[in-house]
Amino acid sequence: MLNPADVKIPLILLTLFGAAILTACSTPAGDAANGKRWYAMHNCSACHGQNADDGRALAIADLDMGFTRFEAILRKPSSPSMPAFSEEKLPRQDAADIYAWLKSLN
Ligand code: HEC
Repeated sequence: MLNPADVKIPLILLTLFGAAILTACSTPAGDAANGKRWYAMHNCSACHGQNADDGRALAIADLDMGFTRFEAILRKPSSPSMPAFSEEKLPRQDAADIYAWLKSLN
């Protein structure tokens, strides 16, 4: 016989893991207005331009990538010309704000 208590525990665990995975994978909600400020403050504009499409480096306005990839590039840029932005320098939430601002440009 299946005891209801035996069923409950795996269900609770499944719910907890599910919630944890969703939190880790989802894009944090970003605030585009703040993002515009972080973008200027961290000097992204020096290379990518004031409007994110008018600098010496690649245009990143309305960029065609998910947040996970965007954050990975910030932490570990593929080009040595771009400085790495660690979590201490640029927290995940600020990165999400910048991402929201870039996505709002088109
Ligand atoms: C010193 C110049 C410099 C600064 C400052 C800089 N970048 Fe970059 N960035 C680059 C260069 C050069 C590349 C091109 C890398 C490549 O071709 O692989 C790049 C690439 C990128 C890419 C990938 C674009 C793509 O389509 O593959 C993103 C996203 C990006 N930068 C975002 C930022 C953000 C956000 C900031 C500020 C927090 C920033 N960068 C600051 C020079 C810079």
